[in-house]
Parts: sequence; structure tokens; C-alpha cells
Amino acid sequence: MRRKIIAGNWKMNMTPSEAVQLVNELKPLVANEEVDVVFCVPAIDIIPAMEAAKGSNINIGAENMYFEDKGAFTGEISPAMLTDVGVKYVVIGHSERREYFAETDETVNKKVKKAFEYGITPIICCGESLAQREQGVTIDFIRQQIKIAFLDVTAEQAKKAVIAYEPIWAIGTGKVATTEQAQEVCKAIRECIAEIYDDATAEEIRIQYGGSVSASSAPELFAQPDIDGGLVGGASLKPDFGSIVNYNK
Ligand code: PGA
Repeated sequence: MRRKIIAGNWKMNMTPSEAVQLVNELKPLVANEEVDVVFCVPAIDIIPAMEAAKGSNINIGAENMYFEDKGAFTGEISPAMLTDVGVKYVVIGHSERREYFAETDETVNKKVKKAFEYGITPIICCGESLAQREQGVTIDFIRQQIKIAFLDVTAEQAKKAVIAYEPIWAIGTGKVATTEQAQEVCKAIRECIAEIYDDATAEEIRIQYGGSVSASSAPELFAQPDIDGGLVGGASLKPDFGSIVNYNK
């Protein structure tokens, strides 16, 4: 049985002092030992959020990371900076990074490989636009994203990866994909991983759904056979996140 992983993606929200307040507020609400709980926060919030989360089941993750070890890359965060403070998860290739910061499948692949090199679990985002869904190319497009993201990644590494399927049209729009749509694509992703590697790898890898997940949609989504949790934006900044994490109670 795959353990569920429910992650918040704070995006560009919360100052360091607000981050401490939010972690303290959510700490008792997300205390579900049956799932992995991750708060992916802005780089400057990582250290204070970790201090605030001490002794709880909350893992603090990053929202991005560069694919070089160090050097003249002004403004970037290196993998060693993350591991030095104990970060174990990093979101890679979120659609907002692809859209506003020119990230491509190739840079996603570089970041995924670098994260594994440093022992950080990448939460690898993929997802189609509304136009692609309407053109009927969703699965083809997602398969391409996945195949490139996993180039030169070993099966042992892939088993530990987390994939977040996030249809772009469902992000921040309140328009959640139907359970059937989400399950269909998550299943196709697992089949793609089985093709690249083998059934054992596909069985172990965890696949999240993301896009307007709420306390009311989470239980049905997370009950699907190929959905192993969620990547949650807006609702991760509110007490609602506690209900999402406790979807099984
Ligand atoms: P949302 O964001 O839950 O606000 O739609 C999800 C995400 O972008 O990870």
C-alpha cells in the first residue's frame, strides 16, 4: 500500500512571521500520522517554518531549486542550501514556473536529477491546458512531460519520486477536475512509469492530484486507486487544510 502524501503549495504567500503563525495554527489540525504532510513554502520561510514545525508531523519543503550545485546564478537556491537545513521535498516544474519563469521539460529533468543526487524528493508537476484537453491530447501531452522529466533517472530513484498531476485549467480557478478525469490521467501516468521502468516502480511511485482541491473534494479524489494524495494551493493557507489532511477520518 502506498502511503498518501498531502502537500501544501504556499506559492508567493506568507511573510516569515506570517509563516510561523500559520504553521502554529495548522499544526494541531494536520496531525494525521497515517499520511505524509508537507508544507512547500517560499525559500525565505523555510527556516522559520521548520522551527515552528519542530516536534510535529509537518515536513517543510521548497517550491523550487536550481539544477547546478553552486556558482554565479544570482537569486537561485541550490540543492545543498536546502539539504543543509533539512529540506526533504521540493516542488519541480509547477505550471506557474513553466509559464512565468520559462521552465521547460528539459530544465525539469535537470532539476529532478539534481534533487535525487542530493537525496531530496522531487514533487514533479505535470498538467495540460484547457486547449489541450479540448483538443483531446491530454494523455499524449502528459506522457511527453513524464518521459522527459524521468530521462536518465534510475528506477530506484523513480520509486521515491512524487508526481503531481495538475490540470492547468483547474489551478486556482475553483474548477476541480472530476474524480473520473483525475483518476484517468493519474492511471495513465502510472502506466507510463511502468513502460519506462517496470510494474514494481509504477506500483511504488506516488501520484498526487492538484487543482482546486478542497475539504469537500478531497475524500473522493484521494479514494481513487491511482491518486495517492494531493498538492494543494489556496486551501493550504487555511484551516481547511486540516480537513484535507484528515480526509480519511
Ligand atoms: P490550487 O493550486 O489548489 O489553488 O488550485 C494548486 C497548485 O497550484 O499546486
